Parts: sequence; structure tokens; C-alpha cells
Amino acid sequence: MPKFAHIVGWGKYMPETILTNKDMEGIVDTTDEWIRTRTGIEERRIASREESTSTLAINAARQALTVANIDPLKLDLIIVATTTPDYAFPSTACLVQDALGAAHAAAYDLSAACSGFIYALSMARDTIVAGSNRHVLVIGAEIFSRIIDWKDRNTCVLFGDGAGAVLLTASEIPGGVLATSLGADGSGADLLIIPGGGSRNPASQETVAENLHTVRMNGREVFRFATRVMTRASKEVAEAAHILLEDIELVIPHQANARIIESAAKSLKMADDRVYSNLKRYGNTSAASIPIALCEAIEENRIHPGDHLILVGFGGGLTWGAALVQWEVSIPLTPLPRWKRIWYSLRFRWARVESFFRRAWRWMEGLPRTPMGQTRFLWFKARDGLNKAGKGISKTGKGVAKKAEKAGKGIAEKAGLSQSGEKEE
Ligand code: COA
Repeated sequence: MPKFAHIVGWGKYMPETILTNKDMEGIVDTTDEWIRTRTGIEERRIASREESTSTLAINAARQALTVANIDPLKLDLIIVATTTPDYAFPSTACLVQDALGAAHAAAYDLSAACSGFIYALSMARDTIVAGSNRHVLVIGAEIFSRIIDWKDRNTCVLFGDGAGAVLLTASEIPGGVLATSLGADGSGADLLIIPGGGSRNPASQETVAENLHTVRMNGREVFRFATRVMTRASKEVAEAAHILLEDIELVIPHQANARIIESAAKSLKMADDRVYSNLKRYGNTSAASIPIALCEAIEENRIHPGDHLILVGFGGGLTWGAALVQWEVSIPLTPLPRWKRIWYSLRFRWARVESFFRRAWRWMEGLPRTPMGQTRFLWFKARDGLNKAGKGISKTGKGVAKKAEKAGKGIAEKAGLSQSGEKEE
């Protein structure tokens, strides 16, 4: 039975609109200098009106599947860590599952604020190690710009929007997510909270008037808590994985405040080049910050096979968590062949068609037998026909893909090239 959970795919999606510190000066009583020196943030991304947490998550997930070269039908589970779901329910994960065409995957959201991604990674790893799942998609996605009070300078300068995703796969090769360490302290629940909109203070005219649907934060307390738990969680997870802190090549911390990151690095005795940060470009993207940073560390060639990484985060709840990853996957030196990228893009479009037919099918099932009985009958026929056609297309597609792969390998062999495109010795 496979005992290890490896990260084999990764992807991120950042909204296009950039809001700089200078722009913030026009919104609240603040300065670029204050934000930069107190937080390390220079700009953040803001989602457009057309975007929601699920659309950000879907884009990141599609990339992760394409990098991993794994068909969405193979997914067993999708976990979306988010504090800003599209709806209270259904879960954002279900919307992602539908958009990807991951028909065999279970899906749920996980709420652990900024620690959500580490919590989700831990759950995903455990189900793989236990043998319950083979392929699990873990996504951190947030649109914090919709839940902050744009008049509160204490919070609105800190957060941004974005999504990151990783695909975990079962393997017998030692490595992957070796250990995780999670923690919580509910006595600090009020330090970082959205008081309105839940069962305690259901949405009402009063809650809206009092602005209870936006983030409230005690910055100083959260700061002190964060510096404490970042070090503690990193040490605990290294111990659990039997890896010395000296042997950690890169720490990827939650991107909340440069001073918190520096303080943790100092107490872990890690030099700056062993701690990754992209905070200045995105601000705090909550549950999305660690997978986005992981993607960018990969893009910047900061991660290599055999490296040991610590991913560590903290957040509302209060919650914290760390994961120790032994990276075993070689980063593709050349991008996926064009035909394969086209194939995946068609695959995701087909998922939308499938979703449309599933909705139409449900609508037809609800029709009364008479006088629409005949229409229902015709619909059954049409659906069966479409199913057959779909299976045919899929079979032909797979055949073409196999032939193209074979032909590609033949050409590469003749040219004396390895699969990655490098000349073989
Ligand atoms: N621009 C200018 N002044 C600001 C400001 C802003 N955007 N935000 C706060 N201030 C003011 C405060 O009002 C305060 O003024 P006062 O002394 O007159 O009351 C002053 O700056 C200093 O506040 P203080 O809380 O001491 O600042 P700080 O150095 O602790 O930095 C945070 C504040 C919020 C940046 C810092 O506490 C922090 O990062 N905390 C952790 C937050 C976090 O990570 N949250 C997410 C968890 S996942």
C-alpha cells in the first residue's frame, strides 16, 4: 500500500488589479512608508466584480492538474481552505468539483482562517497515507477584499486576494509530506473575527449598520501570538519528521507581516535566503498565501529534488500549523507539450458542457409525466446518445494522445533526447 503523499502538481491564480500602497493613501489615513515599514507590503491584488473565490480556485486547480498531467476524473477528494466561500453553503469545493469535471471526487471546504491550507494539506496527506484516497486536490483561495472594512486602516492595508493549489498523489517512493503539526487555541477567538453573518449574529439591518460582517482584529495580540507559534510549529514538525532544522533548505511561511517572518527566522536561526517571501507583492492572502508562495518559489528555481521544506502558518481561531515536505518531484524543465495543454483546456471546457447537461437532466427529471411524457422520452434518448458520443470522443482523444506520445518518444529517441528535452550523455 502506498505510504507517501507527494506534491506532484501546483498552480496559482492572482487577480489582475493591483492596489498599491499609494492607492491606499487615497482610501484611508495611511502612508506608503507606514505600510512598508510596519508590514513589508507594497501592493496587493483585488478580485474583479465578476470573480469569486471559486473562480480563483478553479483557475489555480486547472493549473495544478495540468502540471501534474492528471485527468480530473482521477481525483478522489477536493478540499478548499477558505474564509471567504462563495456561499455559506454549498461549499466552494463543490463548485470547483463541478467546474473541473471531477465526477468521482468528494468535496468539502475547510475553515481554519489563514492556517487553512496547512490544515487541508494535513487532512489530504492523512487520507492518502491511510489508503483512502490516491489523488487529492488541496486549494487555498480567498477574496478578503470583500470582508474587510475599507474604512479601518488597521486591517484594510494588510490583505489581498488570490488562490493557490497543490495536487497530492499516493506513492511508494519515500518523501512528500512527511509530517504535519496542527494546533488551536479558541480562547483567542475574539482576536481575529467576523462577528456578523453566522448563527450568533445572523445578518440583519442592525448587523449591516454596525458593520459586523467585516474583519475585526487585535493586531498587537495577533502579532505576539504569531511570532510564538511560527517557531514552535516549525520545531515540532521537524522533530516529528526526524529532520534537523539545519537540514531544511527552505521555509515557506504564511505571508502576513515581514516582521513576523523575520522574527521567526531569527529564532529558528535561519538565514534570510532560507526563508521565502513574496509578501510585498500580494499582502496577506490568508489561506492562499502558502500555496501561492510555494508556486513562486518553484518558478524561481528555489526548490530542487531532495530538498526539505517547512510550510508554516497561523491565523484566526486562533490556529496554527506546519508541514514538513521532502520534495522528490523534478520540476519540469520544459513546459508541457502544446498539444497536451490544448488537450487539458478542451477537457475543462467539456466539463462545463457536462455540467450543463447534468442541470438540464435534473430539470427534465422534474417534469410531469403528462403532457410532457413524450418530451421526457425523447430527452432520455438524446442523453443516451450524448453519453455514447462523449465516451467515443474521449476514447478517440485518448487514442490520439497515446499515438502522439509514442511518436514524440520516437522522435526524441532518434534525436538522442531525454523526455525532459535534455541531451542524453
Ligand atoms: N497607517 C497608519 N497608521 C496606522 C495604520 C495604518 N495603516 N494602522 C494602524 N496605524 C496606527 C495605529 O492606529 C496606532 O496609532 P496609535 O498609537 O495612535 O493608536 C499606530 O499605528 C501603531 O499601532 P501598532 O498596533 O502599535 O502598530 P504595529 O507596529 O503593531 O503594527 C500591525 C500594526 C497590524 C501591522 C501589526 O500589529 C501586525 O501585523 N499584527 C499582526 C496582524 C496579522 O498578521 N493579521 C493576520 C493574521 S493571519
